[in-house]
Amino acid sequence: MADVVTLSREGPIAVLTIDNPPVNAMSQSVRAGLDQHFRTASSDAAVKAILVLCAGRTFIAGADLKEFDTGVHPPLHRDLFAAFEGSAKPVIVGLHGTALGAGAEFALACHYRCAVPDAKIGLPELTLGIIPGAGGTQRLPRVIGARAALEFILNAAPVAAQKAKEIGLVDRVLDGELRAGAIAYAQELVSQGAQPRPTSKLSVDTSGFDEAFIQSSLAGVRKKMRGQRAPDYAVEAIQAAIALPFEQGLDRETEIANLTLDSLESKALRHLFFAEREVAKIPGLAESVQPRNIRKVGIVGAGTMGSGIAIACADAGLEVTIIDAGAEALARGLSSIKKTYESSVARGRITAAQQAERTALVRGANELAALADVDLVIEAVFEDMALKQDIFRTLGKVCRADAILASNTSTLDLDAIAAVSGRAAQVVGLHFFSPANIMRLLEIVRGRNTSQETLATALAIAKRLRKVGVVVGVCYGFVGNRMMLDGYVREADQLLLEGATPEQVDRVIEDFGFAMGPFKMNDMGGNDVALRARETTGIRAQRPSPYNESIDEMARMNRLGQKTGVGFYRYEKGDRTPLHDAETDSIIAKVAARFGVKRRASISDAEVQLRCVYPLINEGAKILAEGIAYRSGDIDVIWTTGYGFPRFRGGPMFYADSIGLANVLAEMKRLHALHGHYWEPAPLLAELAAKKSTFQEWSKSRKA
Ligand SMILES: NC(=O)c1ccc[n+]([C@@H]2O[C@H](COP(=O)([O-])OP(=O)(O)OC[C@H]3O[C@@H](n4cnc5c(N)ncnc54)[C@H](O)[C@@H]3O)[C@@H](O)[C@H]2O)c1
Repeated sequence: MADVVTLSREGPIAVLTIDNPPVNAMSQSVRAGLDQHFRTASSDAAVKAILVLCAGRTFIAGADLKEFDTGVHPPLHRDLFAAFEGSAKPVIVGLHGTALGAGAEFALACHYRCAVPDAKIGLPELTLGIIPGAGGTQRLPRVIGARAALEFILNAAPVAAQKAKEIGLVDRVLDGELRAGAIAYAQELVSQGAQPRPTSKLSVDTSGFDEAFIQSSLAGVRKKMRGQRAPDYAVEAIQAAIALPFEQGLDRETEIANLTLDSLESKALRHLFFAEREVAKIPGLAESVQPRNIRKVGIVGAGTMGSGIAIACADAGLEVTIIDAGAEALARGLSSIKKTYESSVARGRITAAQQAERTALVRGANELAALADVDLVIEAVFEDMALKQDIFRTLGKVCRADAILASNTSTLDLDAIAAVSGRAAQVVGLHFFSPANIMRLLEIVRGRNTSQETLATALAIAKRLRKVGVVVGVCYGFVGNRMMLDGYVREADQLLLEGATPEQVDRVIEDFGFAMGPFKMNDMGGNDVALRARETTGIRAQRPSPYNESIDEMARMNRLGQKTGVGFYRYEKGDRTPLHDAETDSIIAKVAARFGVKRRASISDAEVQLRCVYPLINEGAKILAEGIAYRSGDIDVIWTTGYGFPRFRGGPMFYADSIGLANVLAEMKRLHALHGHYWEPAPLLAELAAKKSTFQEWSKSRKA
């Protein structure tokens, strides 16, 4: 194997180049190479300064995540960084790509930092539930001050070189090429007689770092890192940088970092980090299968979903032709696309030039014949089988023979849609989530006849649209909606009939960490949507009432939620704040009476939580056993990216594994005895519980 770190000379400058593809992770071999060449360069009298660069597309983009599990072998980060920091000769780093995590921490231990303009620097540790543990929390406050350091660490997002220069994190933004520019900068420092500048010797600027600032920063971050402790630990580490001498501060940082590493929160977040990458690996999909090149997309249906999908496509630079049956509906769709872009400009998310570019990519049409030349069609008309089949029949005739046809159906049988298209191998489900231009999740529905090439193309499209594409099989509601409707929402509804209130259920679920409780969610999406799906698919008839009966009653009474001003909650005009509505209580009581449901004076919060969350686990187990999802991690990704399940709990299946499947099973049996057949434990759950195994182990064993 070639050396991952090499040493070369440019006049008086020793250049250490790291080449550890793909992202130059700070692995043991990189540390060993840096250590070795640093010693050589240090003892060479002709060397006046040491410059560290990376080959490939980026500077060190983080720690070697494998070491989370294997443990860290010497040279340790702390010793290595101390050696560079203690160098008698100035040490300079040249940054490009993304200097993240341990990469940024290493840069902080060096004396001078230069960067190409598009380089980015960040400490994303908090997104994994940990704190920077290689000196970052101690050195960053010494370089940019405690206040800016806390902002930087809590933000967890990388900053661009120019911004890094403004806050004092980077000394020089280079113009032009990295290597030549960095060498010139190092030579300039040598000729100026620049001295080593060890960060550890600097004092921390504490101005503005007061309790009020800390509390308001934590409050801000809690919104996006709901339920997570790592932000509080980050504050503690920075306080240690102020209160303690450097070495003791590092000791404290290590203690805190180890604590966070061991936390369930960070295990959950790391699980999701890997699971989000694993979703793209499809068992049986040969690597040799090449995705089709997609440039032109047709969208059928310019409603809520169609227009959102059009924006997602145009954002990715794809040409879009959007069709609707009625001229008015089309005009509405096009105008909503235009408005979304206008508001993005107003909010500073995109420039006016980008708006113009993207708007120009979208054109409307009235006839399916306008899609004769597109590479991919995404259908998003009403959730109605006959209508969708009609459209696929026509698309099969008017589209180019090699075009791929996708449906955005949320519940319908994709195989029945594919069957009429005349090209079932080129049909796939692309199940977007609302708002389609924002939500990261894309369920890719693999039909019985979907070809490998079509599937590979769907995965490539997901990537192109910057979404997490998770491949699922065909069944009612696929993975996400099936678990939601058949488990979570069903039981939430049942709890109302037994005596809970929408407010209580929503509060308990939000306290558990969900972004939004089920009744606020129903009111937002429209209580009619699920009823229509249940009726058109015949699912309502198959299931004994009072399955989802209070939601359906709301829909039948035209209490559709926010769009009609009243649903489970009442809404003032122009305001989305859910307000209590006494009428809801009496409707629920009437439905309960109609079905003879015995009402209780109160239901404990603990019962509400368990009865809403455990059905997800049970349904998930059935989905795994049926092969509708490949891995438990896929289900976790679907629920955390598409349904607001708390990330710090790792998704429903990871959550089950973390409580222990035997415990889950015992509860499930108890509820089965009390509440009947919906609670019958899934056979896979029972099997794994008996073996003291986990969903994750089961998923891994099947891969092998
Ligand atoms: N709304 C959601 O949250 C959501 C999420 C995921 C998937 N879906 C699915 O997306 C699809 C569309 O849902 P929506 O919420 O955008 O519905 P919508 O009612 O907002 O839009 C449907 C559009 O299709 C148009 N249409 C109807 N018949 C047509 C035809 N023959 N040719 C062309 N256009 C036609 C309608 O005029 C309307 O503009 C459904 O299959 C739905 O299940 C919806």
